[in-house]
Amino acid sequence: MRQILITGALGQLGSEIAAELRRRHGAEKVVLTDIRGDVNADLIAEGPFYQFDIRDGVRLTEIVRKHRIDTVYHLAALLSATAERDPQAAWDLNMNGLTTVLEVARVEGCSVFTPSSIGAFGPTTPRDWTPQDTLQRPTSMYGVTKVAGELLCDYYYHKFGVDTRGVRYPGLISSLTPPGGGTTDYAVDIYYQAVRQGRYRCFLKGDTYLDMMYMPDAVRAAIDLMEADPSRLRHRNAFNVSSMSFCPEEQAAYIRKYIPEFEIDYHVDPVRQAIANSWPNNLEDYAARVEWGWEPAHDLDTMTRDMLRVLSRRLEDARYGWNDQQ
Ligand code: NAD
Ligand code: SER
Repeated sequence: MRQILITGALGQLGSEIAAELRRRHGAEKVVLTDIRGDVNADLIAEGPFYQFDIRDGVRLTEIVRKHRIDTVYHLAALLSATAERDPQAAWDLNMNGLTTVLEVARVEGCSVFTPSSIGAFGPTTPRDWTPQDTLQRPTSMYGVTKVAGELLCDYYYHKFGVDTRGVRYPGLISSLTPPGGGTTDYAVDIYYQAVRQGRYRCFLKGDTYLDMMYMPDAVRAAIDLMEADPSRLRHRNAFNVSSMSFCPEEQAAYIRKYIPEFEIDYHVDPVRQAIANSWPNNLEDYAARVEWGWEPAHDLDTMTRDMLRVLSRRLEDARYGWNDQQ
């Protein structure tokens, strides 16, 4: 039975991986950590939680030893739009946070999951059906840290035998915890605004295609990869995973299937548009399918139906005084 620690556990991805791992293993076996302590009160109350900066290796070692941790999901990072506003802070957290986790894992004998991203690609990468192994010359600081992180994780595996694994996630869409400052955040916000106001002002152009994924698939990808037979893994730290690719116009059209009066207009943010323009339209994920059986369950239609159903119910609950998570 695994003893798990999650960094960045109160974020968009962490809060959902935490909930699923605690459902499978029990709350006591899944230790949550984050620099914040003021959100997701239910998760914090339900099992062990530590508030500290992930760059503090002494504190991390104490916690890993105390709980006999053997598996770390390292999710603390700055996302693309926030990183572009403060590149030095992004380098500091994304690289020094990862180095701290890898060093503690090396000494204490832990496996490590670290997500990379579509942000690890750049304008010279093939845009359509982006191959698993291809050119990676990203132009954002987020992308620079993601490529360096993929390489560093590979290095710790080859040099020290640390069991490092990871996927390149597309933009993640979820209804539980709001996204944390990425270029793909529009694809979550559009559902909230559709339910609340019936309209949305989008910060990317209507024809900007990006790879996206619904959170239940993203959670399953992380857990399935960490549970995969290591002898089958050839790529380890940077598996392309893909489930759907769409642009804001298409997403709006699917929302209109359920909210016919929904309207979208555009007020383009040049910084996030430039980042999106440098990323692929859609990824080819054959290696993940062959090496550990990756297969997504959701497409744009099933995700849209589910997001609108969950958010409408939550809005209705809020009207009658129930807790609204947003
Ligand atoms: P998020 O911003 O929602 O969550 C990150 C968490 O890290 C936050 O709760 C934050 O409080 C915490 N954190 C920040 N600084 C910290 C520090 N110094 N010490 C400890 N914790 C700190 O991000 P997310 O969307 O959950 O992303 C998790 C990982 O997945 C990141 O590596 C990200 O690059 C990757 N990823 C996310 C997406 C996406 O669309 N959400 C897509 C591709 C890859
Ligand atoms: N959703 C993430 C971002 O936009 C992609 O890694 O930063």
